[in-house]
Amino acid sequence: MERLANKRILLGITGGIAAYKAAELVRQLRDADADVQVVMTEAACEFITPLTMQALSGHTVHTDLLDPRAEAGMGHIELARWADLILIAPASADFMARFAHGHGNDLLSTLCLATGAPIAVAPAMNQQMWADRATQKNLLILQEKGVHVFGPGSGDQACGENGAGRMLEPEELAQHAAEVFDYQLLTGKHVVITAGPSRESIDPVRYITNKSSGKMGFALAEIAAEAGARVTLIAGPVNLPTPSRVTRVEVMTAREMYDAALAAVADDCAIFIATAAVADYRPAVTADHKIKKSTEEIHLTLVKNPDIVAAVAGHEHKPFTVGFAAETQDVIASARTKLAKKGLDMIATNDVSGQNVGFNSDNNAVTVIWPGGHKVLPLASKRQIAKQLIELIGIRYQG
Ligand code: C5P
Repeated sequence: MERLANKRILLGITGGIAAYKAAELVRQLRDADADVQVVMTEAACEFITPLTMQALSGHTVHTDLLDPRAEAGMGHIELARWADLILIAPASADFMARFAHGHGNDLLSTLCLATGAPIAVAPAMNQQMWADRATQKNLLILQEKGVHVFGPGSGDQACGENGAGRMLEPEELAQHAAEVFDYQLLTGKHVVITAGPSRESIDPVRYITNKSSGKMGFALAEIAAEAGARVTLIAGPVNLPTPSRVTRVEVMTAREMYDAALAAVADDCAIFIATAAVADYRPAVTADHKIKKSTEEIHLTLVKNPDIVAAVAGHEHKPFTVGFAAETQDVIASARTKLAKKGLDMIATNDVSGQNVGFNSDNNAVTVIWPGGHKVLPLASKRQIAKQLIELIGIRYQG
């Protein structure tokens, strides 16, 4: 089921008594960390309410093709693009017929025409309807189109008959849905990434910070999510959009970042990547009011901030822990010392004395070091560096 983590499932519900089982199906899919949106046909709404499905999926339920309000939000084309899988459960005989013949006379059938995602149907109907030649012909057409067909099972039916046509149970459907997806490098793994600077207040209007843009951490978050991971991105104050499928936790200070990081690590974290440029020191006290410029000199006492990545590496459920080291001299030697001192599994180090790499730049060049080995990743965009790094991390994590 871990293959469902982070996947976007569009669940289509058509009219049939098995629609009540769609509620449990949403729960199963969400328990496997999938994001679920529900589309219901008019007939489906006679069997189970959109409100129930909204509460379970956590999203507004889509019912109308020609609803200007819905189109102003996530329109039908956007919804069709959003899905990684369209799963229609239950799929009635009528829906299968319309889908097989390319109809687009309601929202769900239109989405099936407009999507590039795989589609699966879970037929549910009376055994005579299932056995009918028209239904069986439509089934063949759908199979030829490459549509996955889950079930149906056979046994007692709601109509009192016995035979083939029962919808599979929600657990079986969730399992089949998971099998549609291939395993990826980080499938189902929780990856936690810190990014950006921290901001340490001196008074209500002044603070200590640094030049970190957060770009490297955000690129890593994006690539890790693309590699199938569930990603938590703990971000200091930066002006960057949240990558798709990434959960962002916003923090200001090093201590807030520390708390957020340790909470995320306790949540079954497999890999921790510390790209944040955490302020080493913070003012011992933060003034309640703006400090007046009455004297020639003022003295600020600074105290050390906690070392987040070292604390994570020392955690009783230590994830595979990766640090970054921005250096201006003795780059490799300093990074090796840091790797050992902080108890890391890997460190990515770069020379930030140049103009083209590191802080605030769109490019980076790093040397990745681990106990017993290293690899040079030459100058490239931060997205390219992130791709190579995630691959290295994934391989060393598994090894
Ligand atoms: O010790 P230094 O700041 O050079 O180490 C850099 C690495 O340690 C980075 O991965 C950074 O995110 C992490 N770090 C941390 N908490 C700190 C200081 C640095 O997680 N307080």
